[in-house]
Amino acid sequence: MTSGGDSPGMNAAIRSVVRTCAFYKIECAGIYRGYQGMIEGDFIDLNARSVKGIINKGGTFLKSARSKEFMTKEGRAKAYKALTDANIDALVTIGGDGTFTGALVFNKEYNFPIIGIPGTIDNDIAGTSHTLGYDTTLNTVVEVIDKIRDTASSHNRLFFIEVMGRDVGHIALNAGVGAGAEEILIPEEDLGLERLVDSLNRSKESGKSSSIVVVAEGDKTGKNVFELKDYVNEHMPEYDVRVSVLGHMQRGGSPSCFDRVLASRMGVTAVENLRDGKSNLMVGLINDKIAVTPLQKAIKGQSKINKELIRVSDIMSV
Ligand code: F6P
Repeated sequence: MTSGGDSPGMNAAIRSVVRTCAFYKIECAGIYRGYQGMIEGDFIDLNARSVKGIINKGGTFLKSARSKEFMTKEGRAKAYKALTDANIDALVTIGGDGTFTGALVFNKEYNFPIIGIPGTIDNDIAGTSHTLGYDTTLNTVVEVIDKIRDTASSHNRLFFIEVMGRDVGHIALNAGVGAGAEEILIPEEDLGLERLVDSLNRSKESGKSSSIVVVAEGDKTGKNVFELKDYVNEHMPEYDVRVSVLGHMQRGGSPSCFDRVLASRMGVTAVENLRDGKSNLMVGLINDKIAVTPLQKAIKGQSKINKELIRVSDIMSV
């Protein structure tokens, strides 16, 4: 099952789970539309051939949803009945924080074996250095910022580029450094608006004629990208400022090789853990090795940003 926001690599993970089941001669079914499809018994039998030609596809062919009904006791009771009616006795769930929270509640109520695979572009799950889709999104964002920079430098403009990341700045920070942004605004650090203006002034004085500021959706300045534009216009009228909100194009597209390999590795480990009678674990990547973490820890723990990157970014934008 895939649930929550889709991310590139989800299909590759489904393929891996299905093929690992086929390898061990375990019957496998896919659940459409996340927890909502589970409640409605929207299942499909899957075999090794059902998942051909999907390793390179973005999104999730099982579709995804955020189910309000599953948050209720009645909804979960319906889901349990649908699963047992279909003889489903274990679950691999691919998603983020909300998906795993639902999984834990369900396990507590029905003792249903569950293993999680982290699939979200935000990379905001503890117990893994990389969630599925994060690497692809970084590559997408860097490619787009490179294109925007062509216009920024041709017209001597300042661009505010908003990237996804409601609660965390992983995408902004990494793609910002990768694309050579002059400033990066993230939810984890309040750099302050004065500092932004100072920094842009310094850039100007050092001979830069254009600038890129990458802003995470949930940044701490309390201003959205359009308000930031107005603020800079007011304090630095000499700048020609533009705004680009990248939006959902960041979530789509063919997964990178890294995400495909990661998904393949995670799917194998997820099924093997269920086969060994384990439950309530999330498969992750820790120090380049596949490792499992209790779901509880994955949800509660914080995925910390790499502070070294803030320093690197400061030095690079001298
Ligand atoms: O959780 C992934 C994410 O892409 C966030 O970065 C973003 O804030 C959110 O999903 C957008 O959600 P929706 O697709 O429901 O608008």
